[in-house]
Amino acid sequence: MTIHQKNFDPNDKLAVFLRLSGYLVPYWWAGILMVIGMILSATAEVAGAKLFQIIIDAITQNNQTQKFWFPFLVIGLFVMRGLGAFLGGYYSAYVSRNLVYHIRVQVFEKLLKLPSDFYLKNPAGTISSKLIFDVEQVTAGSNESITTLLKEGLTVLALFGYLFYINWRLTLVLLIVVPPIFLIIRYVSKRFSKLSIGIQESMGVVSHIINETITGYQVVKNYGGQTYETDRFNKASLDNLQKGMKITLLAVVNSPLIQLLMAVGMCFVVWLSLRPEVLGSMSAGQFTSFLIAAGLLARPVKALTDVNQKLQRGLAAGSSIFKLLDAPEECDTGTLTPSIRGDISFNNVSLVYDGGVQAICDFNLDIKAGETVAVVGRSGSGKTTLVNLLTRTLTPTKGQVLIDGVPIDKIKLSSLREQISMVNQQVTLFLDTVAHNIAYGSLSDKSREEIVLASKSAYAHDFIMKLPNGYDSFIGADGLQLSGGQRQRLSIARALLKDAPILILDEATSALDNESEFYIQKALETIMKGRTTLVIAHRLSTIQNADRIIVMDKGQIIESGTHDELLALGGMYQTMYERTFDE
Ligand SMILES: Nc1ncnc2c1ncn2[C@@H]1O[C@H](COP(=O)(O)OP(=O)(O)OP(=O)(O)O)[C@@H](O)[C@H]1O
Ligand SMILES: [Mg+2]
Repeated sequence: MTIHQKNFDPNDKLAVFLRLSGYLVPYWWAGILMVIGMILSATAEVAGAKLFQIIIDAITQNNQTQKFWFPFLVIGLFVMRGLGAFLGGYYSAYVSRNLVYHIRVQVFEKLLKLPSDFYLKNPAGTISSKLIFDVEQVTAGSNESITTLLKEGLTVLALFGYLFYINWRLTLVLLIVVPPIFLIIRYVSKRFSKLSIGIQESMGVVSHIINETITGYQVVKNYGGQTYETDRFNKASLDNLQKGMKITLLAVVNSPLIQLLMAVGMCFVVWLSLRPEVLGSMSAGQFTSFLIAAGLLARPVKALTDVNQKLQRGLAAGSSIFKLLDAPEECDTGTLTPSIRGDISFNNVSLVYDGGVQAICDFNLDIKAGETVAVVGRSGSGKTTLVNLLTRTLTPTKGQVLIDGVPIDKIKLSSLREQISMVNQQVTLFLDTVAHNIAYGSLSDKSREEIVLASKSAYAHDFIMKLPNGYDSFIGADGLQLSGGQRQRLSIARALLKDAPILILDEATSALDNESEFYIQKALETIMKGRTTLVIAHRLSTIQNADRIIVMDKGQIIESGTHDELLALGGMYQTMYERTFDE
């Protein structure tokens, strides 16, 4: 179910409302059952009152046959009321729970299609708060609001129709109170909307702080960050509380105020109509009926004013969710699905990050298929940025990246990424078994033999076999905790299992001790044969055998050659090398 509108404005409340209502359309049948339920309940209510009348009449008239039927009628009424309550309660929940489900799944699917840019700009906690809090708000708001709007709105219209029918002049008088009520509702709606957005945002901050504190618990402990975190959390929660109380205050002032205005209108009508020149044309019965009908307006009007708060909350949340759903997706203009050999060229590539940092600057490099190129350079010189350009995690601001002579934006994203194996600087493991962590995603159809082979090459097999359940041991919160080096070896195994023509290792051996590094180095050397490999390393000892070493600084190549050539050159590489050697 995708409801996507081209010229949708998330700040236009009516548009948000209509788009949200669109989600309810497939549940029209549940809506009908819900309405039937409501009608049954209402009828049972009225019929109950009628029954009393019949009972009393029957007793006074001593009507035996009617007396016989009473117990059945009473039970029948309760069955009817129960059925009504069931249909109304069950199907309204059915619609709202389904709404949560659909929107949540849709938002989650959207998250998977958003560019890295989005993740860089939005903290994880804020994103998850949208998925958890905002989605619930939409549902709480929309379902109840729509039923109330329909039911009570129609009642108000019907009552007004009746009032007009009895005496249109008096009804017009009653309508004097409409403009001030309208003004109040407009003002209050704006405040509700603003406060609701504030509450959502403060929930985002709360969730973000929780997220950071949990993932960074060690730093918090080691650096005595408890007071800082508690203060930060208290501030955000207090902000949330205050906004919640402001909404409540507004709601409890709003409803009586509107009731008061209605009463003023009624008094005015009564005062006017008691004048003989007005009353003259109306019978006593008509007058009473008019007053009763006008009095009946109070309840639905109150219900409508009360639901406004929920409606505004739902709309604010809907607006926030639709903004996310309409956010531009990762651009995939590519259509080609070539079988990549592994020639790579960077042609005059520049990359400026959103913050204005120029990470890559007129960069030119040609790598032949099968070549192993090592990239070294100071921290922040742009090495990670460079390799992220290759997988199109980042898009060059200027210039072009070619693989086998084809500009990479012509290649389908999935095809491109399938053919590049990458070990990232930060290792990511999932809450799953060791085997599933190695054979992650598109690798899930790999056999156990292949997984074991990859693990052996990554020198991970031995430690995996020592785990309680071997490859089926569970890693993560309630499972095993692995050391940094072990985690790194799993991520290398994952990359090796992928067996792609291009291999990128970003600081892949930084967490390993000298011995494991030595073995992995050997394994990688075998694996690098026959594929294009880009190795980023701080420890220069690991890259001496590369076909070519390039030294980067400020997003540019400043030196390039083999290990021996660069040492002979006596430039930055030599300085860096000697420094490592000194250590
Ligand atoms: N998402 C980002 N937004 C803005 N600037 C960034 C971003 N990522 C990196 N940078 C900046 O770009 C420059 C290059 O960063 P990059 O991560 O490519 O360096 P690196 O050579 O990989 O460093 P290291 O050796 O420490 O991993 C740095 O100045 C960094 O501050
Ligand atoms: Mg880096």
